[in-house]
Amino acid sequence: MSTTRTTDTPATAEASKRVSDPLQLIDVDHVRFYVGNAKQAAYFYAHTFGFQVDQISDLTTGSREEATYLLTQGNIRLLLTTGLHDSHPAQHEVLKYGDGVKDVAMTVHDAAAAYEQAVRNGGESAYEPIDFADEHGVVTMAGIKTYGRVVHSFVSRSGDYSLTSVKKGGPFMPKFRKVENFALNDYNKKHPCGLKYVDHSVGNVEEGKMNHWVKWYEDVLEFKMFKHFDDKDISTEYSALMSKVMASGNHLIKMPINEPAEGKKKSQILEYLEWHNMTPGVQHLALRTDDELHSVAELRRRGVDFLMLPDTYYDIVWDRVNSMLKKHGHETVREDHDRIRELGILVDADDEGYLLQLFTKPLQDRPTLFFEIICRRGSQSFGKGNFKALFEALELEQDKRGNL
Ligand code: FE2
Repeated sequence: MSTTRTTDTPATAEASKRVSDPLQLIDVDHVRFYVGNAKQAAYFYAHTFGFQVDQISDLTTGSREEATYLLTQGNIRLLLTTGLHDSHPAQHEVLKYGDGVKDVAMTVHDAAAAYEQAVRNGGESAYEPIDFADEHGVVTMAGIKTYGRVVHSFVSRSGDYSLTSVKKGGPFMPKFRKVENFALNDYNKKHPCGLKYVDHSVGNVEEGKMNHWVKWYEDVLEFKMFKHFDDKDISTEYSALMSKVMASGNHLIKMPINEPAEGKKKSQILEYLEWHNMTPGVQHLALRTDDELHSVAELRRRGVDFLMLPDTYYDIVWDRVNSMLKKHGHETVREDHDRIRELGILVDADDEGYLLQLFTKPLQDRPTLFFEIICRRGSQSFGKGNFKALFEALELEQDKRGNL
């Protein structure tokens, strides 16, 4: 059962005192997608990206309003939710935006206390604290609205629903049941894709709104600016964007925010917005691996559609990257250069080391959400050196869609 909590109960005040920093983030609890058909979406993400379809909440578990599938891989937890009635908010949002990210949820010590602090900081409530409780434990959730249709939920967990237990495959929350006898799960265990956790989550906002949302993350969630890029860093002859990266205090998660910048042709950010009801939203989730070559090879074998770069990219990349690494006294790229080229992986370096990355094409028919597969070898940045090559590749795709 669920109950709405009032915000001034003695228990909550007690908890506030206990946790000196209510906005201290413990983990990315989950990322929730709203999708048109969660059952079918679960197969797509399980088959192409190797997720376990771990738990289900639906009519069979007493969930009468929505069906949700918990997909897991490493420390990544995706919830795929579909509404079972035309009045369910997921149905309305799918109508407007297509499938996409609704909620980037954070585990905290006390969800009610985190929510109160965020609201005190000027955040707008998405929903008030709710306890989902049964004899096994309690999951408390509360949400604030960020850009567009996106929410950040705070989640605190106790009993059998603790994060430690969830990470070991324990029950996610009340009204979820474990999936039994699903052949794809066994296949995925035998053929792992190696995705470990959410490295960053990128938002696209309207032109002129980037600084507004940067300040929002500073004020409301008490994040700090991590990096910023302007349109000189990220532009081609035709299109441009500006980006600032916000990070939580412990760098648990980074949240770059993009806005379109003026160019001769349509920016990829504007294309996103136009196919997203002119509403800001999550553009991509970067999923971290320790072995880019293995992950990308396995994902390609499974049919993941990655962005293709012109082969000329590799004519210059090694000079650029390895000279940067030598200059700062770091080991040069240790992965097999020919194999990187065969797999179409991108490489970039900065003063701290290098990274390997690759971007999928959109994950649904609308050119909106996509994934990035990233491996860091010291570098904490986002592949700035690849922006130009990447944008040219993206423009080719936009052109194919008639959106340039
Ligand atoms: Fe990224």
